[in-house]
Amino acid sequence: THIDWDVDLAEKGGYPDFMLKEIHEQPRVVRDTLAGRMAGGMLTIDELDLSHDELNLIDRIYVIACGTSYHAGLVAKQLIEGWARIPTEVEVASEFRYRNPIITPTTLVVAVSQSGETADTLAAIRDARVRGAKVFGITNVVGSPVARESDGVIYTKANKEIAVASTKSFLGQVVSLTLLAMLLAQSKGKLTTSQIKLLFKELADTAEQIETILSDTAAIDKAALACKDACSSLFIGRGLGAAICAEGALKLKEISYLHAESYPAGEMKHGPIALIDDGFPVVAVATQSPTYEKTISNLQESRARGALIVAIATEGDTEIEKHADYVIYIPKVRDCFSPITASVPLQLFARAIAVARGCDVDQPRNLAKSVTVE
Ligand code: G6P
Repeated sequence: THIDWDVDLAEKGGYPDFMLKEIHEQPRVVRDTLAGRMAGGMLTIDELDLSHDELNLIDRIYVIACGTSYHAGLVAKQLIEGWARIPTEVEVASEFRYRNPIITPTTLVVAVSQSGETADTLAAIRDARVRGAKVFGITNVVGSPVARESDGVIYTKANKEIAVASTKSFLGQVVSLTLLAMLLAQSKGKLTTSQIKLLFKELADTAEQIETILSDTAAIDKAALACKDACSSLFIGRGLGAAICAEGALKLKEISYLHAESYPAGEMKHGPIALIDDGFPVVAVATQSPTYEKTISNLQESRARGALIVAIATEGDTEIEKHADYVIYIPKVRDCFSPITASVPLQLFARAIAVARGCDVDQPRNLAKSVTVE
């Protein structure tokens, strides 16, 4: 008998491209990244090798990274400041390394790098250590330079990522940074044991919520088809939604070459609103959050100028359809976990547009998976 065996398809696990395969691996990434972190009501990240007292002394944090990893840092800032109340700055590594950052012995530098070998991030780590900072690495690659040169490391458990545009690694980074934020808050006594337990459970639940999102992508595909011929687009959100938008816009321009810009929704009136005319796509993260109503006002302003609105919203939201042309519903989560769920439809949205435009989603032009030169 003759068996048809397509090596390429087998490697992609039956998916048409690696990007889609990797997007579908994300529930597993969440589960693996969380495995073994909770013991007897205490969150533990042993690899960090810092005592409770040392953690407690940290009074300033820099998150340094490039590209998609930088966007995971934008999420981290909000969670660390919100829970642990430690001032946190996020900086692209190529800037950080040439500045004169304020570093003291109680400064923690968190270096985020999927590949663990990005030249600028490594240089920033070296610089930070010379200046006396403790450095934690967050990486996907065991034994990579970032892992070796950091004082402690959290592995993101995404496993090898092949598509140039990062998806599952980003999710792994966000989950790891969420854990780090919770750990810092635990050390500082800013979150109680029962709060940590509850948050951890809800964090773990996001794996299933992502599965729900992945099980029906019809609304995402429909919205993507409506936007595919645009020349430019705007992604707007507030708070964590703004960080999600930064990553959503990057994904879209990386793989579809459709220009996308992200803006905190409240800044729209200070410039980007001038771009909007008939049919201009505005993608909004409008999930349940303390600033939901404000984002809705921004949608109304955009719509009044002819924008084609795609909104990512929370299941059960009965208002949103009045303000958007296309609504992509996702399961309800606490706002702090929205980056984990709301990023997924934006990954699929970018991919659907890239496919519709005939682009090679796994290997976009001009981009490399890891950038080991400056
Ligand atoms: C390249 C990749 C991006 C990635 C960035 C940082 O530009 O194309 O997907 O986000 O490098 O890479 P790192 O491995 O340090 O996370």
